[in-house]
Amino acid sequence: MEPELNPYRPGAGLLPPELAGREEHLNHFEQLIIRAKHRTIDRALIISGLRGVGKTALMTRFSQMADQHRWIYITTEGQANDTAAHEVRRRLGAEIQAALVRFSLKARLDDALRHLSALAGQFSLSLGPVTIESKPAATGLLDLDVETLTLAIAKEAQVREAAFAIFVDELQDLDHDMLTALLVAQHKAQQQNLPFYLIGAGLPSLPAILTNAKSYAERLFRYSTVGPLNEQHATEALTVPAEKVGCSYSPDALATILTASGGYPYFLQEYGKAIWDFADEKTFTDLDALAAVEIGREQLDSGFFPSRWLRASDREREYMTTMSVVGAGKPASTTAIAKDMSAAPSKLSPIRQSLIAKGLIYAPERGFVDFSVPGMADYIDRAWIGD
Ligand SMILES: Nc1ncnc2c1ncn2[C@@H]1O[C@H](COP(=O)(O)OP(=O)(O)O)[C@@H](O)[C@H]1O
Ligand SMILES: [Mg+2]
Repeated sequence: MEPELNPYRPGAGLLPPELAGREEHLNHFEQLIIRAKHRTIDRALIISGLRGVGKTALMTRFSQMADQHRWIYITTEGQANDTAAHEVRRRLGAEIQAALVRFSLKARLDDALRHLSALAGQFSLSLGPVTIESKPAATGLLDLDVETLTLAIAKEAQVREAAFAIFVDELQDLDHDMLTALLVAQHKAQQQNLPFYLIGAGLPSLPAILTNAKSYAERLFRYSTVGPLNEQHATEALTVPAEKVGCSYSPDALATILTASGGYPYFLQEYGKAIWDFADEKTFTDLDALAAVEIGREQLDSGFFPSRWLRASDREREYMTTMSVVGAGKPASTTAIAKDMSAAPSKLSPIRQSLIAKGLIYAPERGFVDFSVPGMADYIDRAWIGD
């Protein structure tokens, strides 16, 4: 088919042509919107899952919904490298200011929000690298400032039957002080019945990271996980975009791609794109599908997987290789890995930490590690161990 018309969109954070199987999550957010209209509140949302399952896509959809309902919101992303904390804060302050401007333009409320914007400006200044002469009202104590600012904005939003949301993707990587400050603010907002929501997405370790930061985090959020799509939803993810442009899958072709993808959204997009480009006829055959799986896998093996593998040092790769063998598709015990590598567990701990910091692996439970990307163990086997 014509590549220009290819509807599939493999890639990090790209909104798919059909956001399949996420009704439940969308309903949770819809609930918050409805509640905001009634000036009541609910718990905020945390989404966790492996890479490539569609967390960012979901967050993008949430922010679109927030936009339609005239919420005040900002979207941002945690960063694993040690971006100076003041830089994170300065950016947040600037983004909040920009969000207020957008909001006040839409709602034609310039005056009412001017003081909030000034507050956000002080926030970014007082915590930024610049020290200014005249002391601003912002205290420079992060918890307090974030709280003051978010609650003030939430109050303003509540009057307009909206809410204030901060969407943070890769929340597990947000600088610890900022995370704590946002959790404190979320806690205070709930106590005061104000519609401020921290909406976060991240790796499966995220819920534990939040609870470690503040034990009450458990009660602040509605936690949900995103994973591979079930057969019906994976089918929709493939067929709906094709049907919109008059194409369809033979049952065999569909089955082949569903099996190869394991229902993982990223893989569905990759194989969908490949079958579209490969097929000559409007009904995709099983032969098209078999070719697409081969092409798609080659794409994944030259992009999705190595982009992660190449981030690791030699020693870290050795660790991951052992992990893939020891785990055999399941989380691997850190003691078993150490044994296999004939090393003391304490010696391997820095390697493990560094892999976690790079987002390549995570700890699903104490004493175990797993890959943050589906199919990584198979890739290592295919590309680096072989037979
Ligand atoms: N519900 C879905 N149905 C179909 N494709 C999806 C869905 N969610 C995401 N995708 C696609 O999967 C890929 C990965 O999505 P992304 O949001 O970047 O995942 P994550 O943030 O979890 O790593 C993108 O190509 C995206 O278009
Ligand atoms: Mg993402």
